[in-house]
Amino acid sequence: MASLLQVENLNVSFPTQTGEVAAVCNLSFSIPESGTLGLVGESGSGKSVTSLAIMRLLPPQARVTGSVHFAGQELLSLPDAAMRHIRGARISMIFQEPMTALNPVMRVGDQVAEAVLAHGGSSKSQAWRSTIEMLREVAIPEPDRRARDYPHQLSGGQRQRVMIAMALVNHPQLLIADEPTTALDVTIQAQILDLLRSLREKYRLAMLFISHDLGVVANVADQVAVMYGGEVVEMGAAGKLFTSPAHAYTRGLIGAIPTLKTAREHPLATVEKQARPAGAAPLREVAPGHWARVVQ
Ligand SMILES: Nc1ncnc2c1ncn2[C@@H]1O[C@H](COP(=O)(O)OP(=O)(O)OP(=O)(O)O)[C@@H](O)[C@H]1O
Ligand SMILES: [Mg+2]
Repeated sequence: MASLLQVENLNVSFPTQTGEVAAVCNLSFSIPESGTLGLVGESGSGKSVTSLAIMRLLPPQARVTGSVHFAGQELLSLPDAAMRHIRGARISMIFQEPMTALNPVMRVGDQVAEAVLAHGGSSKSQAWRSTIEMLREVAIPEPDRRARDYPHQLSGGQRQRVMIAMALVNHPQLLIADEPTTALDVTIQAQILDLLRSLREKYRLAMLFISHDLGVVANVADQVAVMYGGEVVEMGAAGKLFTSPAHAYTRGLIGAIPTLKTAREHPLATVEKQARPAGAAPLREVAPGHWARVVQ
């Protein structure tokens, strides 16, 4: 299938007082139309920096090289105005904490409608109609009434539904979801994942789904890339990677998923860091469509 997003040799570094700090090194992956890639890795492994680089939302001092090809355009060299047309319309993003992404003093319906109006072509009444329709799609009860609520009047799960409505109201081709359920409790987390899965089918959305939780990622994604220290160490079909991980770090991530037994026996099991060889080694194909950097 044609790839919608192709990231090639992406490098991101930040200048600091003690020199350049690399956050993402030689990252390459692609997402086909209506496919889902899961990006998994521990805190600080470069997942959010990757998504912000794709959206061109990194602070100006960030040094970004490589290529981000989206639907026939090179995003990294696109003029700012052209990028604004893509952001929020053809590629949207949802984040971990909807309370910080929503404006606390604006009614939620107005915030969704503003996303419609920002991309032109609709009257205020059309934008409001699209808003109510989209709030209904994300299963907000009584959307006409809830649209007039402020963010603090909604539960955490409902706020995340509003964020999803805002992200999808312009019918993007790609949704980047950066830890969309991490701040929610387990039951609500499962409901939001179900919602994302059904909206993905309905709108034939492609998704970059980011989480530190391999279990969650394997549930949602077709392909999974495991990041460690800014690099991909393993990539392959979600099921394969979960059942036969080739890299020690991936095995560690799976081991870190607590079961009742391991939680009792190893209450603080953590992933041991390996010494990282200098430079990014290429991935080796360990099975058809399954790549890993180091086989142990
Ligand atoms: N603006 C910045 N300036 C300097 N360093 C940064 C900046 N933003 C991120 N970094 C560094 O880049 C690295 C990758 O950060 P990133 O936020 O992508 O991690 P992450 O995988 O999303 O982690 P988490 O799971 O905690 O969200 C980290 O070492 C972080 O400190
Ligand atoms: Mg992050």
